[in-house]
Amino acid sequence: MHYGDDRPEALPHNPFKAIITPRPIGWIGTLDPGGLTNLAPYSFFNAIGSDPDMVMFSSEGAKHSATYAREQGEFTFSLATEALKDEMNISSTPQPSGVSEFELAQVEQGQPVVIRTPFVAASPAALECVTLEVRQLSDRHGTLLDRFMVIGEVVQTHIRDEFIKDGRFDTVGARPIARMGYRDYSTVTASWELGRPKA
Ligand SMILES: Cc1cc2nc3c(=O)[nH]c(=O)nc-3n(C[C@H](O)[C@H](O)[C@H](O)COP(=O)(O)O)c2cc1C
Repeated sequence: MHYGDDRPEALPHNPFKAIITPRPIGWIGTLDPGGLTNLAPYSFFNAIGSDPDMVMFSSEGAKHSATYAREQGEFTFSLATEALKDEMNISSTPQPSGVSEFELAQVEQGQPVVIRTPFVAASPAALECVTLEVRQLSDRHGTLLDRFMVIGEVVQTHIRDEFIKDGRFDTVGARPIARMGYRDYSTVTASWELGRPKA
C-alpha cells in the first residue's frame, strides 16, 4: 500500500500516530495568569537536545498549556508512568479556565525550585523548564496552521530517590508509558544495551 494526501478506504483511521511510536508523554504543568495550576498530557513531545537539556511539546490548537507556557515563560514536565495512567488520563479532559487538572486528577503538587509551576509529586522524575520559543507551525505551502510548538530549556531536574540505582535513573523500574496510535499505549518494561561502533 502506498498513499499521499488521499488515504485509502482500507485505512479508515490515519495510522501516522501508530507508525511514529512509542511517543513519550509530556505531562505538562503550567500556570494560568491568575496563578492557578494547569496539567495536561502531550504525546507530540520529545527531548530535542542535551547540555542544555531541551524539550518540546506541540499543541493542536491554542490550548491552555501552550498559551500559558508562552504567557508565563515556563512549564514543567512530569514523567507519566503506568502507576499514574488514570491521573494522566483524567488530566486530559478539556476543562474551562479556572479548573485545575492537578485538583481534578487529585495529584499532589511537587514544589518547584527555580520556576513557579508545580509538577506531579508522585512522578518518578520531573523537569522545570523555561520557555524558549512558541512557534506557530506552517504547512509546505507556507499556510499557517492551528498548531503550536513549545520549546523549553530544563533548569531543574527532580528524581525521586527510590528511582536512582547505581548512579542511574531506573527507567524500567519507573515503568514510563508511551502513546501509540488509536487508543493504544505501551509501557517500558525492559531494556537492552548496544554499544556504539568506534570510528
Ligand atoms: C496521552 C495523551 C496525549 C495527548 N497528546 C496531545 C498532543 O500531543 N497535542 C495536543 O494538542 N493534545 C494532546 N492530547 C489532548 C490534550 O491533553 C487535551 O486536549 C487537554 O485537554 C489539553 O489541556 P490544556 O488545554 O490544559 O493544555 C493528548 C491527550 C492524551 C490522553
